Amino acid sequence: MLLWRASIPDEWLPKVLANLNEVLVDHCHLERKAATSALNLIKYPELTSYVRELNKIAQEELEHFGMIYGLLDSRGVTLGLPKASPWIGGMMRFIRKGRREQVIDHLIAASLIEGRSCEKFQILAEALISTEPDIAKMYSDLVENEGGHYAQFWLIACEIDNQEAHRRLEDFLDLDSKLIRQSHNLPILH
Ligand SMILES: [Fe+2]
Ligand SMILES: [Fe+2]
Repeated sequence: MLLWRASIPDEWLPKVLANLNEVLVDHCHLERKAATSALNLIKYPELTSYVRELNKIAQEELEHFGMIYGLLDSRGVTLGLPKASPWIGGMMRFIRKGRREQVIDHLIAASLIEGRSCEKFQILAEALISTEPDIAKMYSDLVENEGGHYAQFWLIACEIDNQEAHRRLEDFLDLDSKLIRQSHNLPILH
């Protein structure tokens, strides 16, 4: 489905590598939020036939949360407070009100968040292979799982309203390209 309209800025990887523990804390919170987001999608009557699929995604995200929490614990890093991401905040605020619009937009936002995460996990898996092989392996394993979620959310959006999902994807990709270029110094994944 995807042709991103902007690349991840060059300064992203060095910033993440220089703040790895803080980024892991952020990532741990992101998995918790991903579980909540999948559960929140269950509230829409349009998604009644996807309840089992969404519940399974939520369970997988909670497993990821537990795995990363275990990693933090083994590194002696405390979880701490979550930090807001301007990119995620911008994507979520772009979700329109009005039930049907909201369902499609929520699914597209969830799909793109999974998609960008996947892309970043792939970069991290390669960058950490010699210095942090366990973390590199974790990121490489996550790519497949989160890639599956990315596709699931997008396919559900298309099944609900194919034309509207494709039309709206264009708007979201434009927004992503604007937001991702606004670099910031926060030690977070997005
Ligand atoms: Fe996850
Ligand atoms: Fe996911």
